[in-house]
Amino acid sequence: MAQEEKIDSIGLLDENELAYFVAHANELEHPREMVIDVLRAIQKNHGWVPDEGVELTATILRLEPIEVEEVATFYDKIFRRPVGRYPIHVCDSICCWSNGGQELAEQFKQQLGIEFGQTTEDGLFTLLPSCCLGVCGCAPAVMIHQQHYGPLSREDVGELINRLRREASA
Ligand code: FES
Repeated sequence: MAQEEKIDSIGLLDENELAYFVAHANELEHPREMVIDVLRAIQKNHGWVPDEGVELTATILRLEPIEVEEVATFYDKIFRRPVGRYPIHVCDSICCWSNGGQELAEQFKQQLGIEFGQTTEDGLFTLLPSCCLGVCGCAPAVMIHQQHYGPLSREDVGELINRLRREASA
């Protein structure tokens, strides 16, 4: 409990989240098991994980920042740089690739006017390649904020983007 009082979440986690993670970290023999959970919570609140988020995670879990950074940079669903409001992970693994994934990726690039790794000027969309999203039966597929979409045709891309734009302006 003393440790909980000393940690300043600097606005990256709310009080309940901080208390939850500190309590569970104290119960676990290997608190590093929670690295992804803490990073994802920070990302949910902040949109991405800044250096301060890595340091905060390390403090909560009693790890060295480099240990957290290793996980953060290995796991491609954790963003260490700012991304758009809707990061679009386009699967480029075998099932999606053999079901038109490459054409789908090209359609997203064309429709958004960006390449992989880039963000649209309005800050809404970031396009990212991804290994298998675990929904091969829905190939070709993309993932946006833990939500899978597929199978998607080239024609579906415009509709999906328009729907997200409407959602963003609502
Ligand atoms: S290969 Fe694309 S979801 Fe598995």
